Amino acid sequence: MTLLAKRSIVKEDKSNIITLGAIAKEQKKKDPSVVNATIGMLYDENEKLFAYKSVDKALSMLTVDEKYAYGSTPGSKDFHEAVKKWVFRNYYDVFKDLSRVMATPGGTGALSNTFANYLDEGNKALLPSYMWGNYKQVLYENHQDFMTYSLFNDNGGFNLDDLKKCMYELKESQGRVLVVINDPCHNPTGYSMTRKEWVSVVDLINEVSSDGTPVILLHDMAYIDYSKEGFEFTRSNIELYKKLNDNAMVIMAFSGSKTFALYGIRLGAQVAVSNNKNNLDDFDKANKFSSRSKWSNSTNLGMNLVTKIINTPELRKSFEDELKESSDTLIKRASTFLEESKKCGLKTLPFDCGFFVTIPCKDPEGVYNYLVKKKVHIIPMGKVVRVTISAIPVDVCKKLPRLIKEAIDSLN
Ligand SMILES: Cc1ncc(COP(=O)(O)O)c(C=O)c1O
Repeated sequence: MTLLAKRSIVKEDKSNIITLGAIAKEQKKKDPSVVNATIGMLYDENEKLFAYKSVDKALSMLTVDEKYAYGSTPGSKDFHEAVKKWVFRNYYDVFKDLSRVMATPGGTGALSNTFANYLDEGNKALLPSYMWGNYKQVLYENHQDFMTYSLFNDNGGFNLDDLKKCMYELKESQGRVLVVINDPCHNPTGYSMTRKEWVSVVDLINEVSSDGTPVILLHDMAYIDYSKEGFEFTRSNIELYKKLNDNAMVIMAFSGSKTFALYGIRLGAQVAVSNNKNNLDDFDKANKFSSRSKWSNSTNLGMNLVTKIINTPELRKSFEDELKESSDTLIKRASTFLEESKKCGLKTLPFDCGFFVTIPCKDPEGVYNYLVKKKVHIIPMGKVVRVTISAIPVDVCKKLPRLIKEAIDSLN
């Protein structure tokens, strides 16, 4: 006997990341030599949670009202323009009138609103085969479902053919398509799409929507500011969105958690781009309704903090310098990890940059258990294990591949 409604009986947060992350944190508290490579936050080389000094400085500059008063549901005009400036950078003028912003609690809120308003009940979203598992929970919560496209082709590149096949299948079965692409620094693999792949994706979206079928690209850009290729490359891919036809729309899920290391403040945004003003007006109306009904409004402190950093030239400059430093640290950790993997014959999935490296293996749980005995915590998921390099120093990145290889070999 349960008091839960029928759909809620099966609800159980199966996310390993939170559960195993909590276990690792607990173990590390007891024994500082424990390696915690579980949860997606940035730690410095001394294994302390990384906080940007410029973010702290901006926080100290906020007034009582800016920190504690209610914000508006969509966020202020200043916040919207600040987010647009950050997301579009050199292309701000191109997109300022072709885009709208909705404040959300983290990128998660942006995903939740987007699924809620661009898929009907029972519709399927198209997700990558390797993915951040929470997409599925958000969809279930919205009474929606999913199918997956193969992320990689046989050459280790983006699988455009499978994406196309799946998009047409959904077009046929439900008359609308919502596809999620998490790029750059895809979670969990660290893959980043090439310019050519982005051009093909935008062309495909236009092709599938050319007969009036609504096609929505939900671009999960959580890790965009940690791309190895830098701001100009990532924003020049966004510039491709100006070619979208009227039946297609992009909604970017921006994460203040990752860009500004504001994980617990819970701030993000939906950034919608369309060449059709009606689509943008509809976006505002429906997403304001959803936000008001789910969380009423997003954190005013977070919105004002981000606005302050982006709109104050000295703060923005020092923040960007710090961001470059942390990205460089990540690159160093990644190259160390990959070099050592190569030396010991450990295979990873295609990786470019970001917070995570992923290793395919037959028995991820077995690898997890083996490593826990060696005081190393990683995340087993599906047929891979995920190592959070954003959370471990360079010297640990050097040691870990051999240990993981040892674990895999011991289970064969
Ligand atoms: C791929 C991806 N998307 C979105 C999110 C959402 O993050 P947040 O809601 O903290 O912005 C995460 C967090 O780990 C993520 O890894």
